[in-house]
Amino acid sequence: MQIKYYGHSCFSVNVGEKVLLFDPFISPNELANNIDIMTLKVDYILISHAHFDHIADVVAIAKNCNATIVANWEIGAWAEAQGIEKVHRMNIGGFWEFDFGKLQMVKAVHSSSFPDGSYGGNPVGFVISGTDKTFYYSGDTALNLDMQLIPQRHNLDFAFLPIGNCYTMDVTDAVTASNFIKCNHIIGMHYDTFGYIKINHQDAINQFNIAGKILTLMNIEQTLEF
Ligand code: NI
Ligand code: MN
Repeated sequence: MQIKYYGHSCFSVNVGEKVLLFDPFISPNELANNIDIMTLKVDYILISHAHFDHIADVVAIAKNCNATIVANWEIGAWAEAQGIEKVHRMNIGGFWEFDFGKLQMVKAVHSSSFPDGSYGGNPVGFVISGTDKTFYYSGDTALNLDMQLIPQRHNLDFAFLPIGNCYTMDVTDAVTASNFIKCNHIIGMHYDTFGYIKINHQDAINQFNIAGKILTLMNIEQTLEF
């Protein structure tokens, strides 16, 4: 699987023949706004929750690529109201077999209102099994005991976890989360974008190393083969 980082919590992951994009927040992100979002070619956009820093570029990219949205019921309804034609609504706990592989929508502990304050449903994460690898994208979340349920159904090869503190887990809790989900390779997200979530990279990497794990902090526009 090839992973590309677009800043904040936005990654694309090539799963089989399809390109999945998570939580696009590129054009308003000072660290990533040199990227022309119209150059992205994606098949699916997965949305973890309705906060602005996760949906900002959804409509533009979805319409440009004729991509399918995968999100909770309420965000799915919002996407349809924006004129996006292909929307697959799910809810927490459900599995669905897509043409790229199997996806389970899982719980996140956070909130999920749209920028205008309207209800965005519950925040979610995703566990995705392609032909060769399985990974977890947690979305914005606190550490929570329900993460221990994930390895009962899934053997994770890698996981995307927030590490920026203030709005989500900090690094120390993310290490515990990696134990809960039984995963040794974590890709950090939701850090450095705003003042409140700036982190010390070396300290974060060290905390994971002490636990016998690898934390990867990707540069924006960097790609990684997994
Ligand atoms: Ni959020
Ligand atoms: Mn966020």
